Amino acid sequence: MSPTLLLSGREASDKILVDLKPKIAKLDPKLVVVQVGNDPGSSSYIKQKIKSCTEVGMRSEHCHLPSTISLADLLSKVGELNADPDITGFIVQLPLPEHLQSHVPEIIRAIDPKKDVDGFGAYNLGKVFLSKEFEHLPPATPAGIIMLLEHYKISVAGKHAVIVGRSNIVGKPLAVMLLNRDATVTVCHSKTKNIAGCTLQGDILVAALGKPKFITKDMVKPGAVVIDVGMSRIDGKLIGDVDFETVQEIASAITPVPGGVGPMTVASLIKNCVHAKERQNR
Ligand code: GUN
Repeated sequence: MSPTLLLSGREASDKILVDLKPKIAKLDPKLVVVQVGNDPGSSSYIKQKIKSCTEVGMRSEHCHLPSTISLADLLSKVGELNADPDITGFIVQLPLPEHLQSHVPEIIRAIDPKKDVDGFGAYNLGKVFLSKEFEHLPPATPAGIIMLLEHYKISVAGKHAVIVGRSNIVGKPLAVMLLNRDATVTVCHSKTKNIAGCTLQGDILVAALGKPKFITKDMVKPGAVVIDVGMSRIDGKLIGDVDFETVQEIASAITPVPGGVGPMTVASLIKNCVHAKERQNR
């Protein structure tokens, strides 16, 4: 068997960002990242997002709001960002503090679809659902995974893609995006009976369930391409959903954590800002 290919999101995202630089210089888009409270994971992801914007020459702002903010005040901030013509796109970093969690759908609905660079709202998700030609602002992590596969010239057409996890921000939209690229897709989740029976069929296996080291070697088809979306923080260390050490012995290609899907999410967010600005200029 040939050696396992390490799918470096750092390398792929660097290339994407270098390619975007001239457009960024010309269009001058601006991203705002809204953080409510002090979730340590969010603080670290936001730092990465702002740092990448700076490196690529894109304007960005971190809007940090108190954890006690009311729903009305947060919605009013969203309204302000919608109305500001200088702001190309913005995201509200999830998770939100507990008192706002049940209001996430309402908060996402309040974001102008033209500025929804996370691609979380019904309008942008609906376009993803229609066909790959209609994708305009696709959700950043699934779009990043697709770009990572493209960067490494891994075709998906005719392959069996098995996704573990059915979140609205990763599993569900990724299933549709892979289906639109002619993969056969299985989505399994916490209520699936015999998860290993599903994962063993995956030519492409995506772990996006948020359980550290859940996917072990015995659950992976030999030669599979394994994509790890998990980022659990344990004792200050980022741990993926895949038991990397053992799974890499059997996979043909695998993403590391960190340095795999994470940088791709950031690159897609920046790409979405550029696309949003192009549309707004029309
Ligand atoms: N929390 C984890 N991933 C994401 C993301 O891509 N966007 C937002 N807004 N919150 C997240």
